[in-house]
Amino acid sequence: MKIIIISMLLGICWARKLQIREAGPTYVCSHCQPEQIHIAFGEKVNDIVVTWSTFNDTQESRVQYGVGIMDKEAIGSSKLFIDGGKLMRSQYIHTVTLKDLKFNTRYVYHAGSVYGWSEEFSFHTPPAGEDWPVRAAIYGDMGNKNAHSLSYLQDEAQRNHFDMVLHVGDFAYDMDSNNALVGDEFMRQIQPLAAIVPYMTCPGNHEQAYNFSNYGARFTMPGPDSTLFYSFDLGPVHFVSISTEVYYFTHYGLKLIVNQYNWLREDLAKANLPENRRRRPWLVVMGHRPMYCSESNDIDCSCEYTRTGLLGVYGLEPLLMEFGVDLVIWAHEHSYERTWPLYDNKVYNGSYDKPYVNPGAPVHIITGSAGCKEGRDHFLNDEPKWSAFRSQDFGYTKFKAFNTTHIYMEQVSVDLHGRVIDSMWLVKNKTVHFTNTHF
Ligand SMILES: *[C@@H]1O[C@H](CO)[C@@H](O)[C@H](O)[C@H]1NC(C)=O
Ligand SMILES: *[C@@H]1O[C@H](CO)[C@@H](O)[C@H](O)[C@H]1NC(C)=O
Ligand SMILES: *[C@@H]1O[C@H](CO)[C@@H](O)[C@H](O)[C@H]1NC(C)=O
Ligand SMILES: *[C@@H]1O[C@H](CO)[C@@H](O)[C@H](O)[C@H]1NC(C)=O
Ligand SMILES: *[C@@H]1O[C@H](CO)[C@@H](O)[C@H](O)[C@H]1NC(C)=O
Ligand SMILES: [Fe+2]
Repeated sequence: MKIIIISMLLGICWARKLQIREAGPTYVCSHCQPEQIHIAFGEKVNDIVVTWSTFNDTQESRVQYGVGIMDKEAIGSSKLFIDGGKLMRSQYIHTVTLKDLKFNTRYVYHAGSVYGWSEEFSFHTPPAGEDWPVRAAIYGDMGNKNAHSLSYLQDEAQRNHFDMVLHVGDFAYDMDSNNALVGDEFMRQIQPLAAIVPYMTCPGNHEQAYNFSNYGARFTMPGPDSTLFYSFDLGPVHFVSISTEVYYFTHYGLKLIVNQYNWLREDLAKANLPENRRRRPWLVVMGHRPMYCSESNDIDCSCEYTRTGLLGVYGLEPLLMEFGVDLVIWAHEHSYERTWPLYDNKVYNGSYDKPYVNPGAPVHIITGSAGCKEGRDHFLNDEPKWSAFRSQDFGYTKFKAFNTTHIYMEQVSVDLHGRVIDSMWLVKNKTVHFTNTHF
């Protein structure tokens, strides 16, 4: 009884405290309404970072949240972001981290300040540990116009089909276009999914303006170098996100190539330590420009730099092989393509006559057909030997890591109103990985 009374009193005090804070706007602010709300995993996957924009300075950044009711509050900060265009349009980009959330729990939240609050959203935190099936929507190259997959993604996200989204570079076309108005519009278009499912990203070539400043400011990814690279663990999978663009926009610094290479080597080596790999056997890497593709557009498809490096040094493919990366996900080509297990242009099919059972090399997926104003890309007539399936349909990829031995992926065609046009089971039932065996 005592405990009930005390907790009621505490509850009343807490409610009063929130009320008092709520009550004090000192002026009416015209451009303080939060918009472009989206979430991402923080330093741990039970930390959720909420990011949003206001056009005037609200002087505070708050998220009220909780289980069922919004009885907690977290305070963050905002940064003035000035686009590099002629008008130098400015906005305040707010980030608040909700730390140490309960696993496997639905939270409600709203974001804002005393000058204005967003509508209420909810998200579901991931279960603890490794033993649960991770579900993701994966795609790249989605613009603010001609975004064929957008409504499907919004719908599926709201039906709780995804634990996260991986957007593999190339946003909005482009976020900095029209003095970054295009970026604002795009961020509003993805809000119906990105405010409720962690929206994890990597940079593409369309983000390069002003040293990737729109990308860096608008998305809050984990880690100190998150505009370039980061990694996180989710269920039985270690996910890694890299920037392939450091190999192409070299005027932003050749050193970035070296930094990323060294970081990736260290990150993969750690994930591949026997005690880590046993608990979390899947390694998945995403980056924007593919190492392999069979587009007919030569310029677009000559993506050898990330594979073999600049002048033969700092190529990333040997790292994928050395540390037994299971799956590599790319975009950039406005199409979908799946490869056989592949290393150095050679196919390493798996055992039992099944290419994807204990494969001898990484499998590559290129999924850049979400839809953008540049339309579809075309394939070479001769399909390379390493290519297993390809399609020009607009659509997106669905990923499910069932457990430590089975990953399932499928490709949804939006042209065919949501029909699955390709699927793959990646199976690994040996404890050894293909590390070094094929060099
Ligand atoms: C408020 O935002 C508007 C629209 O972006 C801008 O024109 C104005 O300068 C801002 N005012 C302040 C005080 O920041
Ligand atoms: C571009 O941004 C990266 C960080 O994202 C930074 O390390 C690099 O020095 C910048 N390059 C230039 C030329 O400003
Ligand atoms: C790999 O497996 C696929 C499907 O069975 C087959 O078509 C292809 O020829 C195989 N490639 C090699 C090099 O064994
Ligand atoms: C993993 O998931 C697959 C697909 O549901 C299932 O067939 C398999 O038995 C599972 N393996 C383990 C070890 O749970
Ligand atoms: C691994 O999977 C293959 C194909 O499904 C199966 O034939 C084989 O018996 C499995 N091996 C072990 C050790 O489970
Ligand atoms: Fe691209």
